[in-house]
Amino acid sequence: MLKAKTAVLVSGGGTNLQALIDAEGRGELPHAEIKLVVSNKESAYALKRAEDAGIRAEYLKNDAAFEAGLLTLLEEEGTELIVLAGFLRILSADLIKRYEGRIINVHPSLIPSFCGMGFYGLKVHEAALSRGVKLTGATVHIVTAEADAGPILMQKAVEVKEGDTPEILQKRVMKEAEWVILPAALEKLAEKLKG
Ligand code: GRF
Repeated sequence: MLKAKTAVLVSGGGTNLQALIDAEGRGELPHAEIKLVVSNKESAYALKRAEDAGIRAEYLKNDAAFEAGLLTLLEEEGTELIVLAGFLRILSADLIKRYEGRIINVHPSLIPSFCGMGFYGLKVHEAALSRGVKLTGATVHIVTAEADAGPILMQKAVEVKEGDTPEILQKRVMKEAEWVILPAALEKLAEKLKG
């Protein structure tokens, strides 16, 4: 069976990338194959995770030429699906159009709460704690030109507990939600594409 050639864009620690790599290793991504990891941060540990897994890992300077370089890599690998996994750069409308409906992003809240410009990383969990929500979670959505506004593919709720700090909550949301729904959402989209 043909697998959807997938590229993962990263900027940080790469725990979501690791979840994808581990899911593939457990045979949970029968319709997808991670062929390329690209980071706009040279120090991103996600690049090491890719290298350790034998996946092509590329760093591109986070400047005006980034997208041209990214396009070259995506075309070289015949990329069909793109996953933003802790990727901290807004993609151009042109690139999103070129891969319309085939770029997914994981956001660490239940969209439409705590999302949009300025809501990323710990800031999301700080906002959830200061609002006093009892449930938060993660969302995987299709990427469109407006940040965190595309069609929602999957969500998973996570309980906020007494005494949670933003760091504790972030870890729980990653472990119990992000790392579960990102591989599942990728497989669902890949199956639709190649099934
Ligand atoms: C995660 O919280 C993810 O939801 C957000 O950025 C963070 C990146 O984590 N988009 P990692 O690089 O996947 O560990």
